[in-house]
Amino acid sequence: MSLPDGVERRRVDGRERLATRGEPVYGEPTDGPWRLWDAGRSKLGATLELGLDTGLTGGESVLYLGAASGTTVSHVADFAGPTYAVEFAPRPARDLVDVAASRPNLFPLLKDARRPETYAHVVESDLDALVQDVATRGQARVAARNRRFLAPDGRLLAAIKARSEDVTRDPASVFEDVLADLRAHYEILETARLDRHHDDHLVVVASPREE
Ligand SMILES: C[S@@+](CC[C@H](N)C(=O)[O-])C[C@H]1O[C@@H](n2cnc3c(N)ncnc32)[C@H](O)[C@@H]1O
Repeated sequence: MSLPDGVERRRVDGRERLATRGEPVYGEPTDGPWRLWDAGRSKLGATLELGLDTGLTGGESVLYLGAASGTTVSHVADFAGPTYAVEFAPRPARDLVDVAASRPNLFPLLKDARRPETYAHVVESDLDALVQDVATRGQARVAARNRRFLAPDGRLLAAIKARSEDVTRDPASVFEDVLADLRAHYEILETARLDRHHDDHLVVVASPREE
């Protein structure tokens, strides 16, 4: 699998690490103009490290749900085109605004990802990628509701957190249920557990079904 243009492997301290070019955000080490992308702090970073075929090539339009204070979405904005970043908690959203100051293609939105109608007037349609990392119950429902923004050949890249659905259940059976719900709206292309970097998370690569 090739990395998106704008994402490189840099050898730092004898280790190959993913990196993008941009202003540092979370105290990550730098290598000249490159900022290292910590897979332990980013499910999308872990997904790229695992070598999944994300469909990301660089320069794409992205809707990112669950942006928090911008750790991962800052890397996305470094290599992507227009990047709409939805976060509903005001505190991290304030940090996100600072992260966007040096990234003119990053648009922070203080919105609830369960209510896409509240940002549909801002976010363009026919997007190339929907990246989802929302710690909430009903993650399949969030992906279904935001499917409207994706181009027919776009990609959903969703990190599903089992504990957000049900802390008491076995993660594997939670993932089965979430995948069953997702299949109503998406064709699942690939899945992988992210446990090496993120406990009880499943990443899902999917394409939207015709509706
Ligand atoms: C695991 S954190 C995201 C980390 C971030 N994606 C990163 O890698 O830098 C999950 C985020 O989802 C946000 N969140 C949960 N439910 C949400 C919702 N309904 N709408 C928007 N954001 C939501 C939380 O406030 C939290 O910041």
